[in-house]
Amino acid sequence: HIFGEERLNSQGMNLNIESESLPFLQELNTFATQQWQAGPLIDGEIYSGEAASVTSPYDRRQTVGSVSFADQAMVNRAIEKANQAFPAWNATLVSERAACLTRLADLLEQHREELIALCSREAGKSVQDGIDEVREAVDFLRYYGAQSQQLMAPQVMPGPTGERNELHVQGRGAFVCISPWNFPLAIFLGQVAAALATGNTVLAKPAEQTSLVAFRAVQLAHQAGIPKAALQLLPGSGATVGHWLTSAENIAGVCFTGSTATARLINQTLANRQGAIIPLIAETGGQNAMIVDSTSLPEQVVQDVVDSSFTSAGQRCSACRVIFVQEDIADRISELLVGAMEQLTIGDPNSIKTDVGPVIDESARDGLLKHGEWLKQHAKVIGEMTLPPCCENGTFVAPLAAEIDHIGVLEKEQFGPILHLIRYKASALDEVIEQVNGTGYGLTLGIHSRNEGHAQQLAERINVGNVYINRNQIGAVVGVQPFGGQGLSGTGPKAGGPHYLTRFITEKTFTNNI
Ligand code: NAD
Ligand code: ALA
Repeated sequence: HIFGEERLNSQGMNLNIESESLPFLQELNTFATQQWQAGPLIDGEIYSGEAASVTSPYDRRQTVGSVSFADQAMVNRAIEKANQAFPAWNATLVSERAACLTRLADLLEQHREELIALCSREAGKSVQDGIDEVREAVDFLRYYGAQSQQLMAPQVMPGPTGERNELHVQGRGAFVCISPWNFPLAIFLGQVAAALATGNTVLAKPAEQTSLVAFRAVQLAHQAGIPKAALQLLPGSGATVGHWLTSAENIAGVCFTGSTATARLINQTLANRQGAIIPLIAETGGQNAMIVDSTSLPEQVVQDVVDSSFTSAGQRCSACRVIFVQEDIADRISELLVGAMEQLTIGDPNSIKTDVGPVIDESARDGLLKHGEWLKQHAKVIGEMTLPPCCENGTFVAPLAAEIDHIGVLEKEQFGPILHLIRYKASALDEVIEQVNGTGYGLTLGIHSRNEGHAQQLAERINVGNVYINRNQIGAVVGVQPFGGQGLSGTGPKAGGPHYLTRFITEKTFTNNI
């Protein structure tokens, strides 16, 4: 364990133990009506322009605060400031940079209830998802802080007598970090932490849907001692702020997490801009499958499928979209699945009883509903939940499961609580493997089988980044299950893994003929 005896990952909380959950829930409740403000934070100065109201996806009548977006002049100013701040931050001892990240992790834990309330009210995250979100952010900060101290130590290289060879590692410059709304704290801060730990200054553009969470995180980062000019926040849309940042000449790299389509656009923008050729780290979408053979335990399969497909209202890149079930047990699995779906509680994300909250916004909801309608016409619906009345003012999609014939009918990732089931014959396993590999995506794969050789073969032949055998396929833990995909699902290296920081650095070899 690279951190010696010290425990690395943050502690969780058991919501079923009242002595733990009651004080937590009381504290959480104090943020039930709080309003937050966000705007560009450039060199520590808050820029406020025309502010738009932020409302909750659970109930659009509830306001959460307001946000003003950056204009092009602000983006240019932030780029200039981040470049000016780079030499000093890059020259700061790596241990001091890591100490800032550790202090930020401590601050996140101190402000846990506020951050969870914010994730719930701005992004519609359930309480359990909010707890996990803060934990993952804390883990990223501590992990990258510790990793950077190993990676950035100069190395003396072997060489001929009379000559000294040293390899030095340093930051690249002003790094652009562009994040999605589905992990508004963890992925946002994970990217920022990796770039800062390695000596880069950061231009952070959060998803437009979750600017308030990002703003609060950056305020805490500055409070933790990260210099204000080393971390600039630029809220705004992808087509404006995202595009202005990625087309700028004076940036040193882009760290992006989001859809595959946006990654392609950014790749094109980077190719067409002036300036140095810079790295693009892109972690993108998936068409994730679980393969279930007849040796598996149906009850366990269904529990893991429900977790993998409907947790976070299916809004995880890792979520299971398609289960391939060997035909001998397909009826049994379908029957248990319908029963398990009926047990799910859908509604207010702020209640600990809720399993499935809203999807992020109207555009996401409408796209998912359209796909649901298509399934009702072209596939066999296995189960569909009904939305309770409390959902009528929010952007909800009722969990749905439908049987299809081939994964190829799914044109794109459906980022919500919709699950597809495909039956296969034991003799057609090669075809299943072809179907999954044929999507071109390669993020997560679930396997349920008691036949170890069989599971191993599937794990080896299917091209994905994360394989989960006989468990659910979401919730990768930082430093334990390095996370990230292949092919259309991302460039790597894996977030929360030992190689992630290497894309943020530049190397310099010194040869001295003494
Ligand atoms: P998205 O691609 O729509 O947006 C992601 C970010 O890119 C946002 O900040 C957005 O404003 C920005 N953006 C959009 N257009 C841009 C442009 N032209 N130039 C620069 N930036 C631009 O994705 P989303 O809807 O926010 O997130 C959901 C997607 O993210 C899903 O596809 C999901 O699978 C993926 N995701 C992947 C991972 C992973 O680790 N592989 C993790 C989380 C989410
Ligand atoms: N890292 C997140 C998960 O594994 C996306 O669910």
